[in-house]
Amino acid sequence: MRQWSEGYNADIAYTNSFYRDLAPDYLSYVGLLSGVRTPDPGRPFRYCELGCGQGLTLTILAATHALSEFVGIDFNPAHIAAARRMADEAGLGNLSFREDSFQALARSLAEGRWTEEPFDFVVLHGVYSWVSEENRRAIVDVLDKLVKPGGLVYISHNTLAGWSPILPLQALMLEHAAAFPGRSDRQIGDMLVFLNRLKDAGAAYFQNNPVAAQHLAMMASQERRYLAHEYINDHWEPLPHARVARDLARAKLGYVGTATIPLNSDDLAFRPEIRAILAEITDPMLAQSVRELALNQPFRRDIYVRGPEPLETRAVLDEMAERRFTLIVPREEASLTFTIPMGELRSDPAVGEPILDALAAGTPTFAELLALPALAGQSPLAVSKILALLVAAHQAHPVTNQGEDSREGAAALNRALARRVLGQDEQRVLVAPAIGTAVVTDIPDRLAHAGLMAGLPADLEALARFAVDALRANGRQVFAEDGAPLATVEEMQARLHGILSGGLPRRLPLWRRLGAVQG
Ligand SMILES: C[S@@+](CC[C@H](N)C(=O)[O-])C[C@H]1O[C@@H](n2cnc3c(N)ncnc32)[C@H](O)[C@@H]1O
Repeated sequence: MRQWSEGYNADIAYTNSFYRDLAPDYLSYVGLLSGVRTPDPGRPFRYCELGCGQGLTLTILAATHALSEFVGIDFNPAHIAAARRMADEAGLGNLSFREDSFQALARSLAEGRWTEEPFDFVVLHGVYSWVSEENRRAIVDVLDKLVKPGGLVYISHNTLAGWSPILPLQALMLEHAAAFPGRSDRQIGDMLVFLNRLKDAGAAYFQNNPVAAQHLAMMASQERRYLAHEYINDHWEPLPHARVARDLARAKLGYVGTATIPLNSDDLAFRPEIRAILAEITDPMLAQSVRELALNQPFRRDIYVRGPEPLETRAVLDEMAERRFTLIVPREEASLTFTIPMGELRSDPAVGEPILDALAAGTPTFAELLALPALAGQSPLAVSKILALLVAAHQAHPVTNQGEDSREGAAALNRALARRVLGQDEQRVLVAPAIGTAVVTDIPDRLAHAGLMAGLPADLEALARFAVDALRANGRQVFAEDGAPLATVEEMQARLHGILSGGLPRRLPLWRRLGAVQG
């Protein structure tokens, strides 16, 4: 398997997950917040994901942006086959997948054998620090050819600061895998037993590196497929920001900011003593490297633009004026207390409450929020800051203007996901065309939504019955509040009914507003 996979794990498929950071409306908004002009997601755009895995996120984005074009690329044929199955099931004509390696792609582009029109958005999630240096070079060559002038690149990667105590652990895992060949998820199982024995036997590495011991403990609860792809990789290499930024500069890409909104504001991310040091630094690359160390960051999610055009604050606010936003949690559950790296931040209710009311009632533009009578006299920056914190906290989201055109594709994908409920490829996401992405649910809500997709009425009794049938058909238990397993179907239905009645009546109108449920 390793001959074609160039040291990357390919004997089992990677987890098929949804990442909300990849939504174009979100990325464009966050880039703009960082003061740089970004592609306008209000117009039809082209979007590409490199190393797309089984493509769940890409499929959701294609289903919710019917007027735009999406391409996913990965060299693992099992990933591409699964991605195509899901896209076909949802009948998406604006999404294609290509089975290709980064190096082959770079060659095809250089030799003119692949003449793809460049893209407005190119994203790579969980790829760059897991592949060899040659592959990283090939990725930059591909970006150089595939990103439009002014186009946005999202790239996430492991960073050296947070991972440094774990480097010897990963090296030992690789050696263990080489010494005991087998399927990588089974190798992980054996490896965890071995590493825990070593720790319990008093190995000084674990004693002197409590972070490594905690890390090992955490692995016990993580999915084996994830662990296999994360660690059993010949070229696994956490990279400092400066190295990635210098690599990407070759494709004329400039760093804009991180997709993790609060980390773009030093006053939200750092204590005053660190801010004082940062204030003395004029070199942006050095400042970013200091931030990475000050946060002991293990993972970055960054935004780059090809030829970033810095905007004055006034121009950012003008550009923001016509963008629409909406609340993506029930109004009763929305909160103005935010968790930020510095701890907890309570926003001014005089500004926050009217914003929440307006976002719960519809899809106001930023200009409409500023014009609310209750916000008269408030500065646009104060309004923008609370809105950004709400988006960061997954309580609000930019609205896409392709929502109406996407209702059919989104409904078909919701039905396809509902058919997989509780199966091997279970997904706890509801496709929401109004916001051009998906919202994440818990299992009872996921089951209730699957019931609605199967044609049941919005009736709690019927949905609770559907949920219990689905759980029993998949060999799952239902537990009472005290954790005891319930024995009879009647007890299970009563329990599910109780859980659903706690939240579903609030969430159903929200799901309708987001287009996750029709009618
Ligand atoms: C850790 S997974 C991330 C998948 C997906 N982006 C996600 O976050 O769920 C890395 C992906 O990169 C793909 N990949 C690794 N090396 C590659 C290469 N040289 N060419 C193309 N794809 C590659 C793998 O098959 C895998 O799907």
